[in-house]
Amino acid sequence: MDVLTALSNKSDYSKTQLQFIIGAWVMSSLAEARQKIDLKNGDVEEDDYNKQSIYSLLYALYRSMGEVRSDDGGRYEFTFNTWGYTWPSDWGPCPIPSNDPQRMGKNAYAGLYHFDLVKEYIKAREGKVHIVEMGCGTGAGAHLICSKILPQCTYEAVDMQQAGINSCKRKFVPELGGRLVATCGDATKLGLGDSVADFVAVNETHVTEMRGRTTEEDERFFKTAWRILKPGGFLVWGNAIPDSTWAPCFELLESIGMKVIEVCDVTKEAIKARDEDKRRIDAFVEQILSTFHGFKVPKLGEKRRALAEVALKNFARNPGTRLYDNMVDGTDSYKVVLVQKPLGAQA
Ligand SMILES: C[S@@+](CC[C@H](N)C(=O)[O-])C[C@H]1O[C@@H](n2cnc3c(N)ncnc32)[C@H](O)[C@@H]1O
Repeated sequence: MDVLTALSNKSDYSKTQLQFIIGAWVMSSLAEARQKIDLKNGDVEEDDYNKQSIYSLLYALYRSMGEVRSDDGGRYEFTFNTWGYTWPSDWGPCPIPSNDPQRMGKNAYAGLYHFDLVKEYIKAREGKVHIVEMGCGTGAGAHLICSKILPQCTYEAVDMQQAGINSCKRKFVPELGGRLVATCGDATKLGLGDSVADFVAVNETHVTEMRGRTTEEDERFFKTAWRILKPGGFLVWGNAIPDSTWAPCFELLESIGMKVIEVCDVTKEAIKARDEDKRRIDAFVEQILSTFHGFKVPKLGEKRRALAEVALKNFARNPGTRLYDNMVDGTDSYKVVLVQKPLGAQA
């Protein structure tokens, strides 16, 4: 069993199934030719995992853990699969309470709407805007926007992971009175209508990952964003990706008729967020590791436990991991970007 590649994005594994999956992963180390996770820093080569499997595992894990303990003792459900950043001082007052365990992820979602042009656009429509999110995860950010940031908006949250969408339908959709719709599928292949969205939101969606170039999926992704946006509407996009990939993405966006309006570099704030979040992530990872019996198997279990620990921390860009170091040495940068589909453009 290779948890990095074998799980399906169409499945929502129960806690019992996860116990078996992790048990099988522990035992399979006996037959493993090569260890894919770097024990020093959690790095996994691009070809050694696929995103369908990884996020399927993560969302099933988050749900099966239920409420967890934060580093300060408070309880919360881990739903933001987001690195995020500390709120930049020149953006005005931070809209998220400083004691919220998932504040960095919430900042990242709120930050998509910090641009003056965006505020003017929303004000002119008395807040009644329609948002489509491509890659919403559990829908935690969609819920934040609908409940706290844009309480008049309507929102369609799309992700390719059934487990994430199930969490959204269970935890967030019911309280929003029909304003939030959660849809499972590849956001680039869904039958979303043309020119339906005032905003396309993209928050740390796992695309545009290849160093120095865009891929076919990236092209489909941005073309879909262009097609579903109303003329005059905006793509609001935040992520930490290879620094060398931003320029090819901007070129691709301009080549399909989009206009890159503003680019904010928040890498410094994203590193600070990971520093401040470290104790919460450490506590969360510890709770996961102590929940699954496979990690208690002598020798094999202990070895896998160490790999799972460093891999989970690397996904979270925790200090001491490869993805954290990538932000510190400038290999990756975190940017928040405003892109417009010009008025007059037709789908
Ligand atoms: C790091 S997670 C971020 C999730 C969420 N935006 C958040 O911030 O919590 C990346 C997400 O991108 C989703 N994703 C990647 N490619 C996708 C695609 N083509 N269509 C839909 N979702 C996609 C993955 O399933 C995953 O949930």
